[in-house]
Amino acid sequence: MALQGKRILLVISGGIAAYKSLDLIRRLRERGATVRCILTSGAQQFITPLAASALTGQRTHTDLFDREDEADIGHIKLARDADLVVVAPATANLMAKMAGGQADDLASTVLLATTLPILIAPAMNVRMWLHPATQRNLAVLQGDGVHVVGPNEGAMAEAEFGPGRMSEPLEIVEAAGRLLAPAGPLAGKHVIVTSGPTHEPIDPVRYIANRSSGKQGHAIAKAAAKAGARVTLISGPVTLPDPAGVTTLRVESAREMLEAVEKALPADIGIFAAAVADWRVANTGGQKIKKKDGALPELSLTENPDILATISRRTENRPPLMVGFAAETEHVIEHAKQKLAKKGCDLIVANDVSAEIGVMGGESNTVHLVSAAGVETWPTLSKTEVARKLVERLGAMTGGAS
Ligand code: CTP
Repeated sequence: MALQGKRILLVISGGIAAYKSLDLIRRLRERGATVRCILTSGAQQFITPLAASALTGQRTHTDLFDREDEADIGHIKLARDADLVVVAPATANLMAKMAGGQADDLASTVLLATTLPILIAPAMNVRMWLHPATQRNLAVLQGDGVHVVGPNEGAMAEAEFGPGRMSEPLEIVEAAGRLLAPAGPLAGKHVIVTSGPTHEPIDPVRYIANRSSGKQGHAIAKAAAKAGARVTLISGPVTLPDPAGVTTLRVESAREMLEAVEKALPADIGIFAAAVADWRVANTGGQKIKKKDGALPELSLTENPDILATISRRTENRPPLMVGFAAETEHVIEHAKQKLAKKGCDLIVANDVSAEIGVMGGESNTVHLVSAAGVETWPTLSKTEVARKLVERLGAMTGGAS
């Protein structure tokens, strides 16, 4: 069940089924979710905020105009800081308020303010459920994209029988899991992406670098996350923001990048798009190099580790699919074929980085996919589109459903 690390905001409204919501909290937490509760005033007739807090291990929220609550975690933050909002039980009254866009207490205000997916588990008397007003509200909510689980049919608290009983906690957990399960061609895969240049220090204030902007690597990280993967992006110094939904680790030098990649393993796919500096300065000192009349400083260079080759050549803990990039200024395909063999990776994405083409720092890219299967040339595309197509291809190569 895909609830590990997920944050669920559970809104409990006033119905007898509220007692089952305490069990729901326990079930959600058993599956690794963090749960925070909002109780309506009706819910507090059935269960106490203390019981909810004891089970969630978090503060329970009840009032819209609570001074302490607003200073601590305001209602807008409550509406944002989660992955899913579950309303269980959802009473006829709360459904009506949601359908009408009312916001007259904390629960309804948060439900109006949130842009998160919402799952409701209605619970009410059978006649209230079947009433045209409730059915109308249900249709409105579904039209608004609200997800619904239940209600079930069965004996009700008032010795009546019919639909209106809240779904069992496990059914609600399953519905939540389905909503939060990553979908896409890379669902369930861990992808490591390297991106950007590396900076190799000359002294504490100077460094050797290259023109890589990180745009292509970052676009790949974003596309992989969108395709459902858990992504670790290991980025050299770039001016790009960290992509949302991606774990980004920032490094400076090639050696730091290799160390970060090693730590991020194991992975299903490694995509090494970084323009790693091939050399670093061996004779760096702790102090800034000072100008001396006429005498030029001598830099002695030493080779950096080849991150792609190091990881690709491993027999243990090697991601089953290793993708390298080849930045070339001439004989692009020929050099890419040589790199494929030399580095031991499974696929090389080759591109021409001659200054006149403007790939480095630019928005578009013309790439050739070079693998044992042959060479495939893609038309010039935006870096975002190259990333999307590449991720789709890798999904197909690793057997993911698209
Ligand atoms: N690469 C790496 N570590 C290095 C050098 C390169 O991981 N120290 C990776 C890059 O991320 C890329 C691939 O190797 O995926 C090829 O990089 P490129 O700069 O094109 O090739 P080099 O091996 O540096 O060869 P050359 O500079 O001679 O073209």
